[in-house]
Amino acid sequence: AIDSNFEQSREGVGEEDGVAVWGPVEPPEKQGIRGTHVAVDFDICLADGACLEDCPVDVFEWVDTPGHPESERKANPIDEDQCIDCMLCVDVCPVDAIDVDPG
Ligand code: SF4
Ligand code: F3S
Repeated sequence: AIDSNFEQSREGVGEEDGVAVWGPVEPPEKQGIRGTHVAVDFDICLADGACLEDCPVDVFEWVDTPGHPESERKANPIDEDQCIDCMLCVDVCPVDAIDVDPG
């Protein structure tokens, strides 16, 4: 599962498409955690797609990650500012790749 303490345990290494990136990032195998309020561990996501289907405010968008061992696309929390903290995505992800911090 995603480390919900990632803001302490990982280093911010910049942004991609306006989404924060938490390292380590070593493409294609290591893609890091993406997002802050809504965070997705790209190295755990296996492109199930339930989060994209169920999010009521369409926070997620597919991004291609060719060559990644788990899946070649990931759910990018591109509109995390729109999140209403319903926690659906956290509940439906089969591999617990998502952390939402309502704080
Ligand atoms: Fe979307 Fe709800 Fe997840 Fe926020 S908590 S990203 S609103 S599904
Ligand atoms: Fe990935 Fe989980 Fe969504 S596997 S596509 S973060 S439901």
